[in-house]
Amino acid sequence: MDSILVTGNGPLNGDIPIAGAKNACLTLMPATLLSEDPLTLTNAPRLSDIKTMTALLQSLGAEVSSLNAGNVLAMSSHGLTTQRAEYDIVRKMRASILVLGPLLARFGYAEVSLPGGCAIGARPVDLHLKAMEAMGAEMDLRDGYVHAKAPAGGLKGGIVEFPFASVGATENALMAATLAKGTTEIRNAAREPEIVDLADCLRKMGAQIEGDGTSTITIQGVDRLGGATHRVVTDRIELGTYMLAPAFCGGEVTCLGGKISLLEAFCEKLDAAGISVEETDKGLKVARKNGRVQAVDVTTEPFPGFPTDLQAQMMALLCTAEGTSVLEEKIFENRFMHAPELVRMGAQIDVQGGTATVHGVERLKGAPVMATDLRASVSLILAGLAAEGETRVSRVYHLDRGYEHVEEKLSALGAKIERISGE
Ligand code: UD1
Repeated sequence: MDSILVTGNGPLNGDIPIAGAKNACLTLMPATLLSEDPLTLTNAPRLSDIKTMTALLQSLGAEVSSLNAGNVLAMSSHGLTTQRAEYDIVRKMRASILVLGPLLARFGYAEVSLPGGCAIGARPVDLHLKAMEAMGAEMDLRDGYVHAKAPAGGLKGGIVEFPFASVGATENALMAATLAKGTTEIRNAAREPEIVDLADCLRKMGAQIEGDGTSTITIQGVDRLGGATHRVVTDRIELGTYMLAPAFCGGEVTCLGGKISLLEAFCEKLDAAGISVEETDKGLKVARKNGRVQAVDVTTEPFPGFPTDLQAQMMALLCTAEGTSVLEEKIFENRFMHAPELVRMGAQIDVQGGTATVHGVERLKGAPVMATDLRASVSLILAGLAAEGETRVSRVYHLDRGYEHVEEKLSALGAKIERISGE
């Protein structure tokens, strides 16, 4: 297994490119299943999760070609061979459940393995299943698979009312509703930019959707969808992660293509912590204002609130802030696994349930640490870049799920970072 070695090396300066959003791409790819015409995605990120979704779509008989070094995905689902998504692939990635809605809507039938548990909490799929039921589907859980059957004549428009906002369940419901007969209203819908991006792509394919980006989305079903070419939206989580690089290390970094509107709540917290963010025509220019980072309290919330996917990175930053910060995790119940690793580097963190209290120390010290999930892994790399001495982050396969070319991108800013393969 690869590990990454980082050494504290002073300020970081320069421009850093930000890729297309992993989470948008993972829902745009299954949208190809809705149509027999080709769907082409540009600005796709080069990540192992995208390879997993490629393998899943190919296992269903879809054609997926990766062009321009993985930056373009040309897909076609004209000749699907099965509506069954097998456990062997689905277990690798929870987002696999996103093939359910499209398959059910186009073919009236789908079998999808239940995704396995996940390190950051129980993460059930009940809301996805309820959404399909609201459109008339019969759902049966047998042998670890969801067996979904639409009524004769296909899914019917209906009211999908979520008890709380779920990104994935909203995406599944939205895709399914595009081909359902009649009107569907999704209430308490998630409002993330990745959902707006999906709706934009579906509209290009011929779907009739209104209200995406608000908590009520209305979809008028159509008989068929056509092909489209769509550019994947900027990855706001990769953006936020690299915005933190100069906050940790000093210097001035421009995250190319970044926009404040993607990360308003996060930018407000950076401002309060003493980090300046300026939107220019190139992207977001970030620098530490003066002296030490200041403690701030953070609560994760659905969009437009502070994203749970930036909580680990923010906690790592606050470990060396002046004062005490309180972080509350409201989305996932077990998402502080990076805290004990940061403690190994000298951080002072008390975790009680969903609340972590971080008492800022002057500086962290390098140590061997272990990545426990995707965002935790990058938080340890950032912490290592600002720590005294060497930090070796093991189990970085998590990192490769969500960050392309991390070493190259950070080295270009002046960071001392290298991958050590195969140990
Ligand atoms: C997506 C993102 C993930 C991000 C999360 C929250 C993708 C591929 N992943 O995950 O990076 O951290 O949004 O912003 O886009 N829940 C249920 N039942 C369900 C579905 C969800 O109880 O059927 C719960 C989850 O356990 C969690 C909460 O709802 O506590 C929100 O999860 P959700 O928004 O669905 O996250 P994902 O779509 O899995």
